[in-house]
Amino acid sequence: MYCTALAVFAVIVIATVTVQASPTSFNLSAITAINNTSVIQCWQLTEPLVTSSVPGIVGAAAQQLGSLANASYGFLPAHFVGTPHPAPAVQYVVFLSGQTQITIPNSTQQAIFKGGTNGIIIAADTADKSAFGHVSTTLNGSVAALQIPTRKGKIPCKRVLYNGACKASELNF
Ligand SMILES: *[C@@H]1O[C@H](CO)[C@@H](O)[C@H](O)[C@H]1NC(C)=O
Ligand SMILES: *[C@@H]1O[C@H](CO)[C@@H](O)[C@H](O)[C@H]1NC(C)=O
Ligand SMILES: *[C@@H]1O[C@H](CO)[C@@H](O)[C@H](O)[C@H]1NC(C)=O
Ligand SMILES: *[C@@H]1O[C@H](CO)[C@@H](O)[C@H](O)[C@H]1NC(C)=O
Ligand SMILES: *[C@@H]1O[C@H](CO)[C@@H](O)[C@H](O)[C@H]1NC(C)=O
Ligand SMILES: *[C@@H]1O[C@H](CO)[C@@H](O)[C@H](O)[C@H]1NC(C)=O
Repeated sequence: MYCTALAVFAVIVIATVTVQASPTSFNLSAITAINNTSVIQCWQLTEPLVTSSVPGIVGAAAQQLGSLANASYGFLPAHFVGTPHPAPAVQYVVFLSGQTQITIPNSTQQAIFKGGTNGIIIAADTADKSAFGHVSTTLNGSVAALQIPTRKGKIPCKRVLYNGACKASELNF
């Protein structure tokens, strides 16, 4: 029930080109946890996309991201090798530049997220759910990213598509 309520605080505008078919669902990779261990999954948010009727951008598709707590802009140098840590809060991470590799300790799971379009993920492997968390490493270039925790740690309503990061075909914007 709560999951069907309309959240009004954040909207991501996905497409302004009305001649192309607009996407009908928004997927993003998630770092979550099962059984006290972090796991990378591909999620589809279930709050439906809406089509804008705002004058000037009529036809733009928008995805609600829910109520958010605050936002910070972060920067990591190239070749930064992190150590295992749980997510500090349930938060969207929007990579703006560079390439960030996420690995899970004692696991073969890994994913590389690039800045730019589709650079949005959600980190939800908080300390109450994951004993060791994940490791963030930057590759050759430096990385800038926005970190945007959700309000009260709420996880957006979603469907788990599969284990592993979303594929390019799931991020077809
Ligand atoms: C959860 O972890 C425990 C301890 O490692 C293991 O015994 C159990 O089978 C795991 N359960 C699932 C569902 O993975
Ligand atoms: C931002 O929100 C998160 C999650 O609610 C909270 O843990 C953190 O302290 C907040 N930071 C600031 C500067 O308000
Ligand atoms: C990884 O596995 C080793 C050997 O079983 C163990 O000593 C270590 O604590 C584990 N580390 C994590 C982060 O799970
Ligand atoms: C998760 O693992 C940590 C470290 O092994 C342990 O202290 C904690 O109690 C575990 N939490 C749950 C919910 O099993
Ligand atoms: C990183 O830089 C090294 C050396 O300059 C190069 O060999 C490698 O292909 C680069 N890797 C990526 C992911 O760009
Ligand atoms: C999201 O994933 C579903 C299931 O694979 C796919 O049908 C849909 O096209 C994807 N959305 C986008 C925008 O790529």
